[in-house]
Amino acid sequence: MLDTPFTFELRGPGFVPSRHDNHIQRTLASMRGQYCDPAAYEALLAKGDALLYEVYELNRPHKAGEVLHGISIVHPGRVGEEYFMTKGHFHTVLETAEIYYCLSGQGAMVMETPDGEWAVEALSPGRVLYVPPRWAHRSVNTGAEDLITFFAYPGHAGHDYGTIEQQGFRKLIVERDGRPEIVDNPRWKKITN
Ligand code: PA5
Ligand code: NI
Repeated sequence: MLDTPFTFELRGPGFVPSRHDNHIQRTLASMRGQYCDPAAYEALLAKGDALLYEVYELNRPHKAGEVLHGISIVHPGRVGEEYFMTKGHFHTVLETAEIYYCLSGQGAMVMETPDGEWAVEALSPGRVLYVPPRWAHRSVNTGAEDLITFFAYPGHAGHDYGTIEQQGFRKLIVERDGRPEIVDNPRWKKITN
């Protein structure tokens, strides 16, 4: 790992960073229980374990003072009426923020706090999104092309996937009449923490 200043190139159309250390690929099989229509999920999985999203990370120590960063690419598609999306997570250290810069595609960030607030912000090329401390976040691709974002967050933040795996997000983004719509998640249930 470099401990001198470094640069890398981030260029379209693909925006794969010219330097990266990890390439994470998440397929449908790793999202069992996360989509609201289990029958649609099983039907799609029976056709093959589709690649839903990818992350290119630059390695930095997971400690305060560092800034972890990379690129997230959510591919287009749907499970039933629900668009392809990331797992989503709270940061383990709740009081840590994250910043996203949308490079390509159309989508939304679905967010919520442990206190019951929720928010959805549209993502399109050139748009910056600031996710404040305490807000869980999930990227959703509502378009026909890849949704590509650059992200950066504090090195000590950590990922808490378990809370969202158990309770889901309050809001879902689904396609209705050919357009994205925000709806209540019928399966959302608050777990005590
Ligand atoms: O740090 C982030 O929030 C992003 O880099 C996400 O990790 C990325 O978009 C993949 O989502 P998730 O970690 O929820 O699978
Ligand atoms: Ni995050």
